[in-house]
Amino acid sequence: MVAKQFNISWMLIMVFFYTFLLLLACTDDAKQPTYAKDIAPIIYKYCTPCHRPTQPGHYNFTNYQQVASNAEKILYVVRNNQMPPWPADADYTHFVNEQVLSRDEKKLLETWVSLKCPMGDSSKIPPLPTFGNGSMLGEPDKRIAVKPIALEGNFRDRFLLIKVPYELANDTLIRAVEFVPGNTRVVHHVNGDMVRFDFDKKQNVFDGEWVSDMKLDSTIQMAYKKIGVLHDDESYPTLIKSIVNYLPGVIAQQYPDGIGGWKANKKNAFLLADLHYGPSEINTWDSSYINIFFAKNIPYRPLKEFQMGTLGVSKIEPALIIPPDKITSYTSKYTIDKDISILTVNPHMHLLGKSFKAYALTPQQDTIRLIHIPRWDFNWQFFYTFKKMLKIPAGSTIVVEGVFDNTSNNPFNPHHPPREVRDNNGSMRTTDEMFQFIVTYLPYETGDENRSLAR
Ligand code: HEC
Repeated sequence: MVAKQFNISWMLIMVFFYTFLLLLACTDDAKQPTYAKDIAPIIYKYCTPCHRPTQPGHYNFTNYQQVASNAEKILYVVRNNQMPPWPADADYTHFVNEQVLSRDEKKLLETWVSLKCPMGDSSKIPPLPTFGNGSMLGEPDKRIAVKPIALEGNFRDRFLLIKVPYELANDTLIRAVEFVPGNTRVVHHVNGDMVRFDFDKKQNVFDGEWVSDMKLDSTIQMAYKKIGVLHDDESYPTLIKSIVNYLPGVIAQQYPDGIGGWKANKKNAFLLADLHYGPSEINTWDSSYINIFFAKNIPYRPLKEFQMGTLGVSKIEPALIIPPDKITSYTSKYTIDKDISILTVNPHMHLLGKSFKAYALTPQQDTIRLIHIPRWDFNWQFFYTFKKMLKIPAGSTIVVEGVFDNTSNNPFNPHHPPREVRDNNGSMRTTDEMFQFIVTYLPYETGDENRSLAR
């Protein structure tokens, strides 16, 4: 009797066990990634914004065929953290609009490729997202045309300096400025400033030729004069730096209402301090424009900024004279005397950059991490906005560490054989170097550390 009871319980256990195994097998099956269910959403989110017709990435990833036939390449660039372009180390600090695949997403991709890219139920492929052409921020309050540029099909890069003058109805507070490329195949990147003329010294903001080729006008002074950025007495106006920036796939800087904003005079100009056109094989042209967005009628906390390193508030140690055939390190340190809230950071080096790190040391010797770029990539220089404002207490020292590779192993080294390179008074030529860290901040207010910067 006892034995029989045991048998029945045993049988029940076995039945449960096999049901469990079966269930496990089914869920395991469902875990096998397919394009329709798992991979398309990953590709659409991280890759398709730049890899579709009219965008600069040469491959198009908009359907199964394109993705499956390049699966090995895709896996390679994802494993190496080469794509999507996001040079900042996501294990160090996080930022708004971070473009980094999670470990699970990477794993899905790996398994999918190892299974030879199963399609799954093709009727379940999500529809391709609609990608805005033109503004990524919405309807602008004012659209200002950049002077159209003709580009020769000579396979050469071009670096232009362009004045973009405008006139508004009134002096206005602006919350965001967006550069919209006309010809996305050739516009590589833009860094632009706002010009603040002293109107006693400037009759006409529209004067000058507006466009300078940085290769042809040998000095900044000559270039500024030609495009009409100098005052009438040839003195320099004030520049509010880095207000309008563009990199493919990157959404223009914008903060929540009440944070940031810049006063714009009724008559004013932007200065595209560095508009880089990539090489083109055909004669073509570009007609880009700038969108501006007015701030809501509420109090704003105007942005402040300091710049460390080249041309900045803190010197580089040792001086940035980079010997050939060596890998060398430099630091720059700056102690702040008031509590501040950091919003955005922008590391900047040229072609010899190898890695970049910045952090703050508090008076108690605690480290507050700012940013780490383990593998510098000249092509992808972002403005990184923290997810929440980052409080740095008074008395902290911000430390920036840069490593430069001036050997012939650096594939971007512009000199063959390598030769001594330095920061020539902030020359923007890519064959000179720079080591800069730009910090956008606000004077600290209670509660800042809990304020989200995602808009
Ligand atoms: C911000 C725009 C952008 C995003 C997002 C992006 N790419 Fe790219 N990708 C580019 C550009 C531009 C190039 C051309 C090469 C270069 O300049 O680095 C490129 C090149 C490539 C290449 C060729 C690399 C080589 O060495 O030839 C592959 C493969 C690639 N991307 C795959 C991907 C995948 C996969 C994703 C998503 C996980 C992705 N990309 C996301 C812009 C982007």
